[in-house]
Amino acid sequence: MSVTTKNLDEGARGAFARVGTTRVRPGELLRHPVYTRVLHWSVAIFFILSLLTGFAIYSPWLFHWITPVFGGGPRTRLLHPWFGLLFEVFFLFQFLNWVGPMAWKEADRRWLKRLRQYATNQEAIEPEDVGFFNAGQKLYFWLILVSGVLFLITGLLIWFDDVVGRWIVAVSYVIHDLAALVMLAGFIIHVYEGTAHQPGTFRSMIDGTVTESWARTHHPGWYRTEKHRQEKR
Ligand code: HEM
Repeated sequence: MSVTTKNLDEGARGAFARVGTTRVRPGELLRHPVYTRVLHWSVAIFFILSLLTGFAIYSPWLFHWITPVFGGGPRTRLLHPWFGLLFEVFFLFQFLNWVGPMAWKEADRRWLKRLRQYATNQEAIEPEDVGFFNAGQKLYFWLILVSGVLFLITGLLIWFDDVVGRWIVAVSYVIHDLAALVMLAGFIIHVYEGTAHQPGTFRSMIDGTVTESWARTHHPGWYRTEKHRQEKR
């Protein structure tokens, strides 16, 4: 990340920390500060709005109940690219905010090998080398980035379809819809992981904190680093 971009990201974190604070009680750790939470829910809101309006455009017959919510068919079509653009803008800031802890490490390759055990809850505690994010979370993040780039390029080509050839627009539709399906699958898994599969995770995106036992169980590497940092203070 360039120095300017890093300063911009740190400046935004500082500004948000002044607007809202996160209360961390004894036995808890700060997981997601205000800035991260605001970005996450902005990304989520515009993703869901894009998904709903996108479904309504894709199949007006199947999703006829969606269009009245947005003021009718033509308005739904008009709003969709703007919701998409806002999703892209907020994700750009979230990308800068998280690109550091999302870097792929050797430990992530090992984690992927035991994906089945993870999904079927065979191990009570995650391996010692699982840091702030596990490999599954990192893959979701990078998937959003790749899909986000594809959405942006193909979305602009569909939006301004008189600028390029018809076959380019036709291919763009296919890529745009496939990326949406992949993102939808990732989103469903993500919501399950962030709520039912791992109790205690959802609150990290609400009040910003997790319990120490949650951290020790799901992210032992991050837990060790945090405790070490606290001892040094
Ligand atoms: C609306 C339902 C959603 C819920 C309940 C939810 C919940 C959460 C929670 C609890 C975390 C923190 C996980 C942790 O600290 O370990 C998180 C992280 C994250 N969320 Fe969401 N989220 C939702 C929607 C979305 C959407 C729509 C996107 C993007 C399209 C998204 C992208 C992310 C990413 C990239 C992370 C970090 C990596 C990860 O934990 O997978 N979330 N989410």
